[in-house]
Amino acid sequence: MKLALSLVASLFWAIASAAPFPAQVAARSKLPRLILYYQTTHDPSGRPISILPLINKQHIALTHLIVGAFHVHANHTIHLNDHPPRSPVFHTLWNETRLLQAAGVKVLGMVGGAAQGSFTKATLDSGSSNNNNTTTATTTTTSNAFEKSYALLRSTITSHRLDGIDLDVEEPMTQAGITRLVRRLHADFGADFIITLAPVATALLRPGGGGNLSGFNYTTLERQVGGKMIAFYNVQFYNGFGHMGNTALFDRIVASGGGWDARRIVVGQLTSPVNGGGFVGHKSLARSIAVLRRRYGEIGGVVGWEYFNGVPGGVGKPWRWAAVMTRILRPGREPRLRITRETAERLKEAWMVAARAAGDGNGTVTTERWAGLVPNVDYAGMVNEYSVGRE
Ligand SMILES: *[C@@H]1O[C@H](CO)[C@@H](O)[C@H](O)[C@H]1NC(C)=O
Ligand SMILES: *[C@@H]1O[C@H](CO)[C@@H](O)[C@H](O)[C@H]1NC(C)=O
Ligand SMILES: *[C@@H]1O[C@H](CO)[C@@H](O)[C@H](O)[C@H]1NC(C)=O
Ligand SMILES: *[C@@H]1O[C@H](CO)[C@@H](O)[C@H](O)[C@H]1NC(C)=O
Ligand SMILES: *[C@@H]1O[C@H](CO)[C@@H](O)[C@H](O)[C@H]1NC(C)=O
Ligand SMILES: *[C@@H]1O[C@H](CO)[C@@H](O)[C@H](O)[C@H]1NC(C)=O
Ligand SMILES: *[C@@H]1O[C@H](CO)[C@@H](O)[C@H](O)[C@H]1NC(C)=O
Repeated sequence: MKLALSLVASLFWAIASAAPFPAQVAARSKLPRLILYYQTTHDPSGRPISILPLINKQHIALTHLIVGAFHVHANHTIHLNDHPPRSPVFHTLWNETRLLQAAGVKVLGMVGGAAQGSFTKATLDSGSSNNNNTTTATTTTTSNAFEKSYALLRSTITSHRLDGIDLDVEEPMTQAGITRLVRRLHADFGADFIITLAPVATALLRPGGGGNLSGFNYTTLERQVGGKMIAFYNVQFYNGFGHMGNTALFDRIVASGGGWDARRIVVGQLTSPVNGGGFVGHKSLARSIAVLRRRYGEIGGVVGWEYFNGVPGGVGKPWRWAAVMTRILRPGREPRLRITRETAERLKEAWMVAARAAGDGNGTVTTERWAGLVPNVDYAGMVNEYSVGRE
């Protein structure tokens, strides 16, 4: 009898101590991050693609969403993809990002990417020369084009209440130019504002490394901004600049002497093989991630390019990519969505406005068809919080 009791007690102890963290500790722990880029905001017929499933569906523990791509143009305009960020095309997007933020997800904007022009001499790299002189980079370099370009970026961040910015420099930029930009963002928005960069993986190797798209030296940038202004790196391990079928490249980066802490490297992955080259299956990725977490204690996380067609769900259920990643990275740490009936009604209206505005520029959702237009998102069905005494 005694034996049996103590067996029960020790079994209980084994189970209790195997539980990863008390819930409160888990909720506060930020690592490893689970991040998604959100660039395709509408389907081909102009219907907004909702991101709410990322907080409404079960078993997803997203930590950051990165909205992109913002482009700063030489003619002193800023676009989010093909429209000004304030366009009604994005009413759904900006209404929904507020809800993600309320659920604890940080929302960042991504500037740059494959479409070039934001980091040139006519825009955010204006007036800088290619040297390391930190004095030159901050004080002696002033330029009208830089100030105008930067002002557009700053007001976009403020208007849309972005929690941070991801600088995806995929065109040659000067060392002084990137340093100036990071310092300015940090000075204007403070220590809680999340500044990230998105280098291709080989750009973090040295000396001479592998390929790079941004020209400047990331190790030098880290030193110039004191290692604190840049929160983490969304490192692209795909498209010929590395892959995650094994951990070799990640290991080489950490061992390179460039000063890269595994906890600041977020592993960039394609969410679908159709989004580029070097897609790695989820099982293989899970194995590599497990090895890395054992080896380094923790890693920065995983970031997916991009939301709308992630596998295994595809365009019909793209959030399932994030559910699979949650199982790999952050099981049991979901934020909770709270939606009232009023919120659901506002979202429905925003969806209609956004769909019509996008349709205007395309002709697919034509005026004649507006009559029958209904959101393909069941906002009413998401209501899970009821205001007392208002029924
Ligand atoms: C416009 O509609 C066509 C299909 O009719 C689609 O191929 C195209 O991608 C749409 N463009 C936009 C910007 O949605
Ligand atoms: C500014 O330049 C962009 C990119 O070339 C272009 O799409 C946009 O229409 C231009 N805007 C104005 C007001 O000229
Ligand atoms: C910048 O500084 C680094 C050392 O901090 C040095 O290796 C590099 O050559 C310098 N580049 C230029 C253009 O001066
Ligand atoms: C950096 O530039 C400033 C201003 O041109 C100059 O006074 C200073 O000597 C330079 N520092 C270095 C290390 O080259
Ligand atoms: C980057 O700069 C560091 C020191 O600042 C230097 O040791 C390294 O070789 C440079 N990397 C490349 C790829 O030039
Ligand atoms: C970036 O790539 C260019 C050309 O491919 C090369 O000349 C340069 O040294 C590289 N810079 C760094 C910092 O890796
Ligand atoms: C939400 O959508 C409504 C209705 O279309 C719009 O008036 C409002 O500006 C949107 N809110 C945000 C934060 O974009």
